[in-house]
Amino acid sequence: MARLTVNTRPLEFRMDPATPLLWALRDAANLTGTKYGCGTGECGACMVIVDGAARLACLIPLSAVEGSEVTTIEGLSPDRSHPVQQALVAEQAIQCGFCTPGIALAAAALLARNADPSEAEIKAAIPNLCRCGVYPRLVRAVQRAGRVARRIETISAAPVPGIGAEDAARAVPAISAPPQ
Ligand code: FES
Ligand code: FES
Repeated sequence: MARLTVNTRPLEFRMDPATPLLWALRDAANLTGTKYGCGTGECGACMVIVDGAARLACLIPLSAVEGSEVTTIEGLSPDRSHPVQQALVAEQAIQCGFCTPGIALAAAALLARNADPSEAEIKAAIPNLCRCGVYPRLVRAVQRAGRVARRIETISAAPVPGIGAEDAARAVPAISAPPQ
């Protein structure tokens, strides 16, 4: 069993304390924004923020985060308004999106301690792998997010995805629209 605070909510995980935090978040807390990529600490897809620092959830057993504050992508902001989220969208630094939650959290942890990072500091703090290769845009997005955090730039909030069930069914033929 382990007690920790996840996205400001106190939770008690009645699981083997050796369970990786990744699986506690995904399977027990249904926080599936935390992704499983390699499971061996190589890719960064499982990155979360633990007590202010970016950590790889696939490598941390539940027992090691007893009493900690954990933030997942679902808790980074209530409405996608965190500067990193706004800048990733504005700079189109998202392709398939699989790596994006981990990158957003690594970037948020970086900007919390250094809101004006150099390109080298960004690359060192965000070693996450992106198979789609968004790296150049990612550097621009993190620097832009830093300017937003320093209040020298604003970005209009990204629009809410305007797609309903019928639109989704038209766009993805494998989905059927529910009966009206
Ligand atoms: S899944 Fe954790 S680093 Fe790849
Ligand atoms: S956007 Fe596809 S893996 Fe990074």
